[in-house]
Amino acid sequence: MKKAVERGLIEIEFVNIRDFALDKHKTCDDIPYGGGAGMVLKPEPLARALDSVGAGRKRTLYPTPSGRLFDQPSAREFAKEDELVFICGRYEGIDQRIIDEFVDDEVSIGDYVLSSGEIATLVIIDAVYRLREGVIKARSLEEESFSDGFLLEYPQYTRPEVFRDRAVPEVLLSGHHKNIADWRRERSVEKTKRLRPDLLE
Ligand code: 6GU
Repeated sequence: MKKAVERGLIEIEFVNIRDFALDKHKTCDDIPYGGGAGMVLKPEPLARALDSVGAGRKRTLYPTPSGRLFDQPSAREFAKEDELVFICGRYEGIDQRIIDEFVDDEVSIGDYVLSSGEIATLVIIDAVYRLREGVIKARSLEEESFSDGFLLEYPQYTRPEVFRDRAVPEVLLSGHHKNIADWRRERSVEKTKRLRPDLLE
């Protein structure tokens, strides 16, 4: 990511919501109406922060465990946008009116709960920026899992030919491109059946 920034391919800007709180304690959260545990991010500082980056005119994502599951097709879709805004929630969440007014996509990175949105946001940024033109080789993108939709990646080997009594599969040393392609396909199918049968359906 750092290299992509240095090469001028992407830009990342951070905005601290607390800079948009007006009281001396820079209050950004408050207790939920209706009661319950935890705190909710107040709408006004968050709205001012979002206005400061023009979020109203840009695709705005809110990473949250209650969002739609983020996957490679979503990454491809987000990569088409020239600018994205991410809202990193903390505590129990953000005021619903911010979601209603600004958020285009509520996205979850998986069925587990993280303590805040920052790491989920980093995950999404990482998956998206690498799909931008010039970041990585087109061929590497084509070859990886999910690009052809269904299969996990086949095992990879590099030198040495024998490592702690474990030899590289013979076929990979053969130079026979058709056999290598077939072997890789079989390994991919076998691995997908074993670890991700849901993908084969
Ligand atoms: Cl996007 N945020 C948080 N806090 N937890 C998550 C998540 C997001 N996706 C899965 N768990």
